[in-house]
Amino acid sequence: SAQTVQMTVQPGDPKLIVSKHIQGQFAEHLGRNVYGGFWVDKDLNVPKKGRIRMDIVEALQKIHVPNLRWPGGCFADTYHWHDGVGPAAQRPKMLNLWWGNTLEDNSFGTHEFLELCDMLGTEPYLAANVGSGTVEEMSNWMEYLNSNEDTPMVQERKKNGHAEPYKVSWWGIGNESWGCGGNMTPEYYTDVYKRYATFAHDYPGTKLKKIVSGANGDDANWTEVCMKKIPTNMMWGLTLHYYTLPTGSWTGSKGAATGFDEQQYFNTLRNGLKMDDIVTRHAAIMDKYDKEKRVALLVDEWGIWTDVEPGTNPGFLYQQNTLRDALLAGTTLNIFNNHCDRVKGANLAQAVNVLQALVLTDKEKMLLTPTYHVFDLYQVHQDAQYMPLDFKSPDYVMGNEKIPALNASASKDKNGAVHISLVNLDTKKTINLETALPGVNWKNVSGRILTSNSVSDYNTFEKPNNLKLAEFKGAKKKGGNLTVALPPKSVVVLELK
Ligand code: AHR
Repeated sequence: SAQTVQMTVQPGDPKLIVSKHIQGQFAEHLGRNVYGGFWVDKDLNVPKKGRIRMDIVEALQKIHVPNLRWPGGCFADTYHWHDGVGPAAQRPKMLNLWWGNTLEDNSFGTHEFLELCDMLGTEPYLAANVGSGTVEEMSNWMEYLNSNEDTPMVQERKKNGHAEPYKVSWWGIGNESWGCGGNMTPEYYTDVYKRYATFAHDYPGTKLKKIVSGANGDDANWTEVCMKKIPTNMMWGLTLHYYTLPTGSWTGSKGAATGFDEQQYFNTLRNGLKMDDIVTRHAAIMDKYDKEKRVALLVDEWGIWTDVEPGTNPGFLYQQNTLRDALLAGTTLNIFNNHCDRVKGANLAQAVNVLQALVLTDKEKMLLTPTYHVFDLYQVHQDAQYMPLDFKSPDYVMGNEKIPALNASASKDKNGAVHISLVNLDTKKTINLETALPGVNWKNVSGRILTSNSVSDYNTFEKPNNLKLAEFKGAKKKGGNLTVALPPKSVVVLELK
């Protein structure tokens, strides 16, 4: 069955841009994300540059990752950067206490991470250790990376092979300071933040973007206290973390990554759609203290968090990735795009082999997840001009609950091409769109789609292309209008030019 929706693509404000940083990624020292993911054994038979795995690099180059967050997460508040520079053989080992108690040899440190960012053409986003580190340690890291004066820190960087300053400007001052980052109250954290931020210095050519460790989900008070107590000129951004749990519960089962039924699928998307309310609430608090919207809201951890794959280390957070995850990713990115006046960045958790990963590996084998393909589709929105959409979504009904079946966002790129990303969450009903685009001159429409027989379908190492992008032929030009037959359980991105 089908239902019809009238949609209007508004011209929007030419100054309002969908920041490319909404499509940021996250590489924590967790499970097989860095060690055994990006950074592999020198004997593993895959293309490598040093020990960086090049099939992953090439896949991520294709989706133009705008920023990469590192080294955590919870791990960041246990990490001592100085142990990860200098000759690899002399670096001390460390226990990764948060994630599986694995012994890390610090062979992947600051230089290796920045080399990876360089290969990816991505902005490094570092998280400073506030929980168990010192102001001096953070301040030295900044000097080591960004100064060009003849100081011991800079001499050491040069000795370690990098003559020029790295110019790292994105700095998170702590992570989840309400939890794994130190279990602080917001009042206490804001004082700590101001102390650290005072000694986070700009160096010539590198103005820092200082980022406040923000709220857990709908904890409005955390945001309120941060905005009230930290002067807006002392912060570039404030973060927010929200994960989608299929069961909605952190205790007991979170729900399986595969093999779920339609009710579980529905619940997952219902929980995921809460991101819209959460962002709206935090943005409204920020508006009270920052009317000019100078401070960025960065949702620097988001994604689906399921039970780990049976038989895998529970501390490694390894989960499969289905069409459900892709529909959640498309929906979440639409939400961020539609809040682009305040949301200037976000980071999916996480890039490789962890939570809602883009890439999964098994020794030499590697696959791209359905979520990866959504980032491939959505890259057209990066730094494009935002175009608001007017429409009323049909309901997707399950028992006596309902959620909006349709979500969407649109933008115009610098060449004038308009892109519309559409997600139909309903598993059975097609949505027929009749779309007006006042003021847009266009001749042709083309598109690509991600869908599959079931929302629980996924890619395996044996069948890595089970789900992949396909040409979409359901969009037509009718006079100046656009008609689209949007299939159930699909993500479609259209290009009009
Ligand atoms: O992404 C996994 C973990 O989730 C991060 O380390 C932490 O910040 C959050 O609780």
